[in-house]
Amino acid sequence: MIAWTILLAAGSGSRMKAAGLSTKKQFMDAGGEPVFWKSAKAFSRVAGLSGMVFALPPDEKESMEAVVAELDAKSPLGLEWACVAGGERRQDSLENALAALPRDCTHVLVHDAARCFVTPEVIVRVVEALRGGARAVIPAVPVKDTIKEVRDGVVAATPDRSRLMAVQTPQGVSLDVLRRGFEAARANGLTVTDDAGLAEALGLPVHVVEGSEDNVKITTPEDLRLLDGQAPLVAIPRVGFGYDVHRYAAADTPDDAPTRPMVLGCAPIPGAPRVIAHSDGDVLLHALADALLGCLCQGDIGQHFPDTDAKYSGVASSILVSEVLAGFAPAGLTLTHVDLTVVAQVPKVGPHREHIRRNVAGLLGLPLERVNVKATTEEKLGFTGEKLGIKAYATATAVGFESP
Ligand code: CTP
Ligand code: MG
Repeated sequence: MIAWTILLAAGSGSRMKAAGLSTKKQFMDAGGEPVFWKSAKAFSRVAGLSGMVFALPPDEKESMEAVVAELDAKSPLGLEWACVAGGERRQDSLENALAALPRDCTHVLVHDAARCFVTPEVIVRVVEALRGGARAVIPAVPVKDTIKEVRDGVVAATPDRSRLMAVQTPQGVSLDVLRRGFEAARANGLTVTDDAGLAEALGLPVHVVEGSEDNVKITTPEDLRLLDGQAPLVAIPRVGFGYDVHRYAAADTPDDAPTRPMVLGCAPIPGAPRVIAHSDGDVLLHALADALLGCLCQGDIGQHFPDTDAKYSGVASSILVSEVLAGFAPAGLTLTHVDLTVVAQVPKVGPHREHIRRNVAGLLGLPLERVNVKATTEEKLGFTGEKLGIKAYATATAVGFESP
């Protein structure tokens, strides 16, 4: 028997996402290492497994493959490994992974990367059953609660609890069974949630070995407390504030000063005074970028995009905002709302307000109803009142999930 592990880590974690968590659960931190790597390590401790295929989200395949290489260099799995892009459904990810197996592989252990508390004991039980001749093996634990079959909100049946088991992974399957199972699944349009289910669909016996109560799958935010053994994570809001000023070009502006036609929130404002600025001079997006950096606790745009650097000369401020925004997901933050205020005597911002709002919502990937744009004059007082320049304020609100 030559057995490989297939570690399924290509899911999108939609149940976590629905609760506002932006990092996929399999890539979250589990005591100093990512969840999926903690799973991989358990397999590396079991003798008799030859290699591992990681199924990764298609859009993150390259970046996560680099992470696997880095983790393996730091603390080697001691196994051959390969990475593939996963597919739409769990079984599609599995099918893609099959293509990366070496020719001599005869059996696979298919594991949910999100079950990072799997122990070598459970894995060994599955391997032993395969070695004993079983062609499909699942670990399972007896259910504790009475299970009801419910239809339209009414109990339809109460199956005998003593015969019910909750199924876990790794599921061990011989490759010929798995390949035949996939053919049958394709022919019948079958979707299965477990791998041995493919053997079951072929009418083959699926053997059950003892699983473990601890071998749970991280699925919803409540499960995250298991990762650090602490209290459940709570949503912590962060509010970032930004402020920026641009001077208007005037008769006494030196010829070599960089002046730009006015743009507010990516909307050109025809007929407005020109502004003096190193970048495109979008004062509103500069205030917004600072507000976003405020959420991230990462200083201000001057530090990140210095106006002494020629590469930012005339740069579209939307690029700066996008670059700052890209820092949110890695920091575990989800942007939820922005509120922007333009202060100017001239031009009149009102006619452009909805255009600006739509642009900003699109730029930030926020629904329109979570973006507000306001404008005011300062009653002819101060530098805006004297039409010498324009200023903008922004707040950005984000949530992150943290231990209390
Ligand atoms: N998985 C996968 N490819 C998919 C779907 C799921 O590799 N197309 C993996 C997940 O990464 C996870 C395991 O299969 O390790 C079990 O799936 P599940 O718990 O359902 O994870 P997700 O599909 O990511 O989460 P959700 O169902 O909440 O979207
Ligand atoms: Mg799923």
